[in-house]
Amino acid sequence: MCGIVGYVGSKTAVDILIEGLTSLEYRGYDSSGVALNIEGKVQLFKAQGKLQNLRNIVQNNYDEISKSTIGIGHIRWATHGVPSVENAHPHTCNCGKVAIVHNGIIENFKELKAKLEANGCTFRSQTDTETIAHLVATKYGETKDLTEAVRLATQEIEGAYAIAVIHQDVKNTIVATRRNAPLVVGFGEDENFVASDIPALIKYTKKAMYLDDNQIVTITPNSVKLIDIDNNPKELKIETLPWEPVALSKMGYKHFMLKEIHEQPDIVRNVLAGKLRTMDAPIELNEVTLNKEKLKNLSRIQIVACGTSLHAAMVGKYLIEDFCGIPVDVEPSSEYIYRKTITNENTLVIGVSQSGETADTITAVRQAKKKGSHILIVTNRPDSTMAREADSLIPVNAGIEVSVAATKSYMAQLISFYLLAIYMAEVKGSMPKDEVSKLKHELILLPQKIDNILTAKGDIQKCARKFANSKDFIFIARGVNYATALEGALKLKEISYINATGYTAGELKHGPIAMLDESMPVLSVLMKGKVYDKILSNAEEAKARNARMIALTNSEDFKLDELFENIIRVPDVMEILSPALAIVPLQLLAYYIAEFLGKDVDQPRNLAKSVTVE
Ligand code: G6P
Repeated sequence: MCGIVGYVGSKTAVDILIEGLTSLEYRGYDSSGVALNIEGKVQLFKAQGKLQNLRNIVQNNYDEISKSTIGIGHIRWATHGVPSVENAHPHTCNCGKVAIVHNGIIENFKELKAKLEANGCTFRSQTDTETIAHLVATKYGETKDLTEAVRLATQEIEGAYAIAVIHQDVKNTIVATRRNAPLVVGFGEDENFVASDIPALIKYTKKAMYLDDNQIVTITPNSVKLIDIDNNPKELKIETLPWEPVALSKMGYKHFMLKEIHEQPDIVRNVLAGKLRTMDAPIELNEVTLNKEKLKNLSRIQIVACGTSLHAAMVGKYLIEDFCGIPVDVEPSSEYIYRKTITNENTLVIGVSQSGETADTITAVRQAKKKGSHILIVTNRPDSTMAREADSLIPVNAGIEVSVAATKSYMAQLISFYLLAIYMAEVKGSMPKDEVSKLKHELILLPQKIDNILTAKGDIQKCARKFANSKDFIFIARGVNYATALEGALKLKEISYINATGYTAGELKHGPIAMLDESMPVLSVLMKGKVYDKILSNAEEAKARNARMIALTNSEDFKLDELFENIIRVPDVMEILSPALAIVPLQLLAYYIAEFLGKDVDQPRNLAKSVTVE
């Protein structure tokens, strides 16, 4: 949440900062700002709302602003204080010489603020961040050394943060530090960078260094110095990034979300490539370093995740229990971390995260690691904080996902869980060989079937138009597709703001049925298999209450035409694999409804793609 970027060198800083912020927009987009040292004076430029508003301000003052070759920038997702110009970063101290950008939450900011106010500091915003600006300014007053001022300030701060600071009197210098929030330094020729994430600097350099918690870095155009919180010098561990400059192109699609939905057939092919070679060869998952004997004897697995990743985890639970007979618990990371959990060295703990930066999931896996569990991370970002906690790391290889609503990363997580569950079943010998071969065969057919759904998207678009003005939406399913109902509802809520809820179809009659009338669409995920007839009965119950009935099905049964006002058909597929097909029309349905309603599909209100606060 929140993106920060800093540049010091000889180029026009504001261009690099704005470009960096553009690539960090997934971290927040409710306001933004830059601080630049222009001809010896620190000046702030801030805007509420989308980054374009800041671009406009910069454009109007470009002659003056473009003289600066040092600056820091920020894109915000509000935690303390509403999105507004005064709460937008950078923040500054009384004298205006210090400017600071921050990602994270300062937990003891109220105590710090009271102390600083008692010492004469005047606060202009409602943010927790402003305390750091005043604190650094106070410490600078005592030490006349910016690095030391930041180091002393961090000793008083509790919470999570990545910060970058400039000071008017300390020429061509950025000081930055982190604790439980990502920060990376980029090394250039006579210029250096700092940012929350690689996309902000990859265009300029592939040489980078991830900071560890509590390290403080001092950056000038020609030097990078690293110390720890006790002032010990630390060695620079510079890596060459395997990244290419990220092409943030919609490739002709109206939105990134639509493009990313269309990438899914290729993503399935990518995830399977090299791991699933033939029907008879065992799945190769060298990423799993857990000793095979230990894996065979695992008594328990716990999966922690948030949001869409949590839904992928729910499918994962179903698969592992079904294929391997190992009990699996799935829990939102934010719940797992605040209770007594029965986790120990015999538990495998799986953290699932698109970004690898979700604060709750990072904390959850760290807690489990302390208890001796093997940590397996399933992530789209093998360079992330979470990945660095992993004993085993499964990169899902979905490529950069720009749209805040996750689609292709969910697909990649699902396919990774299929591979993991089959791999474990093969190691344990818990599944008959012919069943495993059939599954593998069907997995290979998935990309073509997803392609078929995408080709027929016109029908889904029509259905979306018909239901776009609904105030509420209910999704029902059972078994392995319960997660599909939840994810379908989540997609719709996220981007159209329609109140959508997923239920297990069996629970409908235990309360939710009270809400049904002729204005309520009920979408049944009706895949052929062991729960098909049961869902059909539950759909009948909904129809009897006059709900507007929609089916998402692979059945050709003509009786469905009587029960359902709309039928979205998907190709035939094994029930256990059906979540990977059934989710695609639901992503499209949410997309077309939001698009029809004129919503900001790629950057829905109040959300951020990467939630780095607990
Ligand atoms: C945010 C995003 C969701 C995402 C969730 C978990 O809430 O808006 O789309 O599913 O975080 O993120 P992760 O990166 O851990 O999968």
